[in-house]
Amino acid sequence: MKISQELMDAMVDQMNYELLSEFAYIAMASHLKKDGLDGFANYFMVQAAEERFHAMKFYNYINEQGGHAKIAAIPESINSYDSVLAIVEEALEHERRVTARIYNLMDIATKDREYATISFLNWYVDEQVEEEDNMQSMIDKLNRIGENKAAFYHYDEQLAARVFTPPVK
Ligand SMILES: [Fe+2]
Repeated sequence: MKISQELMDAMVDQMNYELLSEFAYIAMASHLKKDGLDGFANYFMVQAAEERFHAMKFYNYINEQGGHAKIAAIPESINSYDSVLAIVEEALEHERRVTARIYNLMDIATKDREYATISFLNWYVDEQVEEEDNMQSMIDKLNRIGENKAAFYHYDEQLAARVFTPPVK
């Protein structure tokens, strides 16, 4: 194995956290679907597909580096929320936790002078900027909509159009 055990263990842990993220977003979609908000539900199902992609990118890298991408137990997701805003706020908090974890991985890779892994992780650093920005924009939009039901349902319709497109690299 080319990279240190400490770094490899942290990479496997992060692959599992990306899977946890996938499940967390499916749980959000499921809650929204139950409430008839198909557009919001679609948005979070696409988010879940992105998380699967993030997890598989780790899976491939771990294997390329001669590691073992072991699957851990995934803790139960939050299944109950008070509002759509509460869901999106939790999504933003979740993405902030992911960013902190990616930075921690980057710290280990930097300490190890593991340049290939630093290069690999840079993709996630950039991705996290976008993820946090997307969730923050959604919170801002929901706050602007406020109690305007027509605007809220129009936004739900808009979100039905989101599709998952795998990134090129
Ligand atoms: Fe992710």
